[in-house]
Amino acid sequence: MNFHVLTLFPEMIGSVMRESITGRGIQEGLLTLDTVNIRDFAFNKHQKVDDYPYGGGAGMLMQAEPVFLAWKSIAEKLGHPVRTIYLSPQGETFSQSMAKELAKEEDLIFLCGHYEGIDERVLEEIVTDQVSIGDYVLTGGELPAMVMMDTISRLVPGVLGNEDSPETESFSESLLEYPQYSRPAVWHDRPVPEVLLSGHHANVDLWRRQQSIERTVRKRPDLLKNADLTGKEWEYVRKLKKELKEEETQHENI
Ligand code: ADE
Repeated sequence: MNFHVLTLFPEMIGSVMRESITGRGIQEGLLTLDTVNIRDFAFNKHQKVDDYPYGGGAGMLMQAEPVFLAWKSIAEKLGHPVRTIYLSPQGETFSQSMAKELAKEEDLIFLCGHYEGIDERVLEEIVTDQVSIGDYVLTGGELPAMVMMDTISRLVPGVLGNEDSPETESFSESLLEYPQYSRPAVWHDRPVPEVLLSGHHANVDLWRRQQSIERTVRKRPDLLKNADLTGKEWEYVRKLKKELKEEETQHENI
């Protein structure tokens, strides 16, 4: 996976992405990171990339030409069409399934805006996808781009080292992850659940599956509509929901 990032703050991207698991992915050549400073394409004395919006209003806009030239420097180098993602609160909300889809691409270009946005005409010309990471407004597109790159990176084969883990995690099957424990067996008077010490793998798998279902019912019942459960498991969901309702009415009566 080759990430290309158009930004006014290339160091911000590099310093985060070159750490930890993504950093190892870059070192091992499974990922590449190419940051392009949009300011390098502002051909005026002060390397200015922003201007006032026509029609008035608060704030400044990033101008079309430096953004376009920065994008073109990547597009021409690649020589084939590449998805260009503009980070914006107006975009489609990012999700694990979108990450899976994007992880199939060879190259991705991220366009990070600043100030009050970017001249609409360049967005119309170069952007293929607008993506939001949630219903809140950040000061720029760098953090959202890094959230997306981090999520996509761990789906690139080899980046996690352990090929199993992306599949057993929260959201991969529309279920939340089960709780996990490590040594010591008792900590602050809290013992590890007995079944995990039993060495009985089938029982451990069953317990983990039940825990995943229970957590999803309690914390994120909206995810269940996409979950792939057996008939018996759906029965378990109904039982848990009934118990939860009873708990709630008991609380209301206190
Ligand atoms: N830029 C500012 N806020 C954003 C958000 N929530 N998602 C993506 N890009 C943004």
